[in-house]
Amino acid sequence: MIIKDSKILITGGSSGIGKATAKLLADSGAKVAITGRDKDKLEKVAKEINVLAIHSDVAKEEDIEKTYKVFLENFGTLDCLINNAGIGEFPTVDEITLEAFMKVYSVNVFGAALMAKHAAKIFKEQKTGGNIINVASTAALKGFARGSVYSSSKFALRSMTECWQAELRPFDIRVMQVNPSEVTTAFANKERKERDEVDNKLTSIEIAHAMKAMLEMDDRGMIPELTVWARNPWEKK
Ligand SMILES: NC(=O)c1ccc[n+]([C@@H]2O[C@H](COP(=O)([O-])OP(=O)(O)OC[C@H]3O[C@@H](n4cnc5c(N)ncnc54)[C@H](OP(=O)(O)O)[C@@H]3O)[C@@H](O)[C@H]2O)c1
Repeated sequence: MIIKDSKILITGGSSGIGKATAKLLADSGAKVAITGRDKDKLEKVAKEINVLAIHSDVAKEEDIEKTYKVFLENFGTLDCLINNAGIGEFPTVDEITLEAFMKVYSVNVFGAALMAKHAAKIFKEQKTGGNIINVASTAALKGFARGSVYSSSKFALRSMTECWQAELRPFDIRVMQVNPSEVTTAFANKERKERDEVDNKLTSIEIAHAMKAMLEMDDRGMIPELTVWARNPWEKK
């Protein structure tokens, strides 16, 4: 895909990985829209990085419909959906609640699925092919203590990536997945505050570069899944 002038929709673009990716793609000439729940933060960030703000919550079906309506009114067509919005809850098995599962799955699984549903429909109608990147996690590859809710939601997302690949490749639609390991963002921070960067941990920009590279590859090829590790996240030996 040629990034310049392409039309890209990123869920959860007002901080962290989504914001860095939106900025990188917009700086490369793409027309980008970002979504988020906190309207003030979303509008401030959109202005700062020169992208379109669409105030919406992926956990609400009516907001998803509004997102695409506003996106198409502004940009006309869609080239790429980045399913980035994601949240986490980390109870131990004896602490899990249905409420925690519903909260996290509503965003990470159901929200991502409904966003992809609309994107796939639009790509098929446009007959242009298209791109979907699901932002999963290394938690989609391996379970861990306190991962019942979050890790299982990302396993579900990974499974959907494979299902959509099987369905959509014949329509020239590339469905791809990126699995970041730990990135210093506001993720899982109750006050939604960005964490300070740490020398040996990943920052959002590495993940943004990975996604840009996946999109930039000529349309004849696709990277089905890409995992990004910090080179050495431990204490130096
Ligand atoms: N940080 C990590 O270590 C890490 C590692 C692996 C994978 N990931 C994944 O990377 C993705 C981005 O996370 P991040 O680290 O960049 O976290 P972040 O800084 O908390 O950013 C999350 C973004 O998503 C938005 N968002 C959250 N819930 C939403 C909803 N229901 N509807 C629309 N937007 C929503 C947030 O804005 P509002 O709060 O205003 O809605 C924010 O813009 C997530 O899918 C996460 O699971 C993160």
